[in-house]
Amino acid sequence: MNRILIVDDNESIHADFRKVLVGGSVDKLRDVEMELFGAEAMGPAPRTGGDYRLDDAFQGREAIEMVDRAAAEGDPYSLVFMDVRMPPGIDGIQAAAEIWRRRPETEIVICSAHSDYSWSEMLDQIGASDKLQFVRKPFDMVSIQQLALSLTKKWELGRQTTATIQRLEVEVHQRETAESQLRALNEDLESRIEARTHEIQQKNSALEDALGHLREAQEHLVAGEKMAALGGLVAGIAHEINTPVGIGVTATSHLQQKTGNLIQLYQEKTMKKSDLQQFLKTAQEATHMILTNLNRASELIHSFKQVAVDQSSEKRRNFRIKEYLDEVLLSLRPHLKKKPIAVAVNCDEELCLDSFPGAFGQIISNLTMNAALHAFADGQNGKITIEIRGEGNGVVLIFEDNGSGIPEKNLKKIFDPFFTTKRGEGGSGLGLHIVYNIVTQTLGGTIQCESATGAFTRFTLRLPFSPQPGGPHGRTQPF
Ligand SMILES: Nc1ncnc2c1ncn2[C@@H]1O[C@H](COP(=O)(O)OP(=O)(O)OP(=O)(O)O)[C@@H](O)[C@H]1O
Ligand SMILES: [Mg+2]
Repeated sequence: MNRILIVDDNESIHADFRKVLVGGSVDKLRDVEMELFGAEAMGPAPRTGGDYRLDDAFQGREAIEMVDRAAAEGDPYSLVFMDVRMPPGIDGIQAAAEIWRRRPETEIVICSAHSDYSWSEMLDQIGASDKLQFVRKPFDMVSIQQLALSLTKKWELGRQTTATIQRLEVEVHQRETAESQLRALNEDLESRIEARTHEIQQKNSALEDALGHLREAQEHLVAGEKMAALGGLVAGIAHEINTPVGIGVTATSHLQQKTGNLIQLYQEKTMKKSDLQQFLKTAQEATHMILTNLNRASELIHSFKQVAVDQSSEKRRNFRIKEYLDEVLLSLRPHLKKKPIAVAVNCDEELCLDSFPGAFGQIISNLTMNAALHAFADGQNGKITIEIRGEGNGVVLIFEDNGSGIPEKNLKKIFDPFFTTKRGEGGSGLGLHIVYNIVTQTLGGTIQCESATGAFTRFTLRLPFSPQPGGPHGRTQPF
């Protein structure tokens, strides 16, 4: 409900305003008029149009104080009806100017009699304002009501607009604050990402360096390993060849000495028949020994050459595994003749490898010869089973004998060069080493051995259909 302040030094004016704006006695007056003139002549009853709370001030100063108080209580006046002359205090024009200085939104209606200031004098004093209205005394009842209605509405709308603007300003401020926080957050994030990226880049390059060093170290290690293996092999070769060559040298020098002796006897013409017979016997024995040992040395050298498997020395081609396997086994038959060993092959006829058939044959040959030599005693019945099947991008080859087996302690040494349990009986310990090199390097596969003494020895080989030259196992030289 709007508050209206009536400022006038004349008390009866206050009563008039009350009648006009709040009703009550106005209605009573109207009832009397209606009785006198009839309802039709009176027309419809004037409507106050609003509910107001009226307060009264009788002096300008008092009005200013009341305006202040109402504002302080949060219940300000929306409209002030202000008389002009109010002796002995300040006049209404001054009071209005003062009220606007404090509460510029207050609507003020200056109520003046003809004897008061002229309009222009009053405007000069107060200044032009859209909050200002003038009414002449004596009042017209309806125009006071209309003024009160429209000015209090205007004041309310003004207040609502101000409140809306304030709310909007707060919202804009909040949004601006949020935006600037977001911007700050974004900038912070960007700088953190930049810092992190920089850090990661540094770590990356450190890692790359480390990887480079690791590769170098690895290359050195591999080279070192190769040299060590080569050194070991050379020492082994020297040791193995030393025996037959040494025997050959001894036999040769013995023959040389005996030949010298015979020549001397012949030149001195003291040579007897028995001397010649003795010499011939010695010569026969010595040449036999020399030949045997040279053959042994030659065999060894042949084996050593195979250690250095060179895949470029053999043509790569597509071959049927079963067919080739049968050929190799046929060529080995003379070696197996002495022992009753049955060989069973289980392999799909169509299974092929795009690989090195010679190297493949060498593996089968070495494994078969080993089984014949180590697994079975002379005259013992034995069985060799060779099973080959395709799996993934290659084949799995299982070579198994049901012979003596390999003791646990030997199992991890069998692929080492020169490991043999038949030293001095024709074994040089290179057979499985050669197999290992061929499988892992030439054929690009893997080999494993399992065994149980007195039961079986099983070699499991995994060979790719097509070995990758230069791949993980694609080294052309084993050492
Ligand atoms: N099928 C097998 N059964 C039992 N032992 C075996 C079998 N195959 C290999 N061995 C053992 O592994 C050792 C190493 O075999 P490897 O073929 O390397 O050498 P070797 O046969 O003794 O000599 P080489 O093959 O050089 O003539 C053999 O001496 C033997 O003790
Ligand atoms: Mg062997």
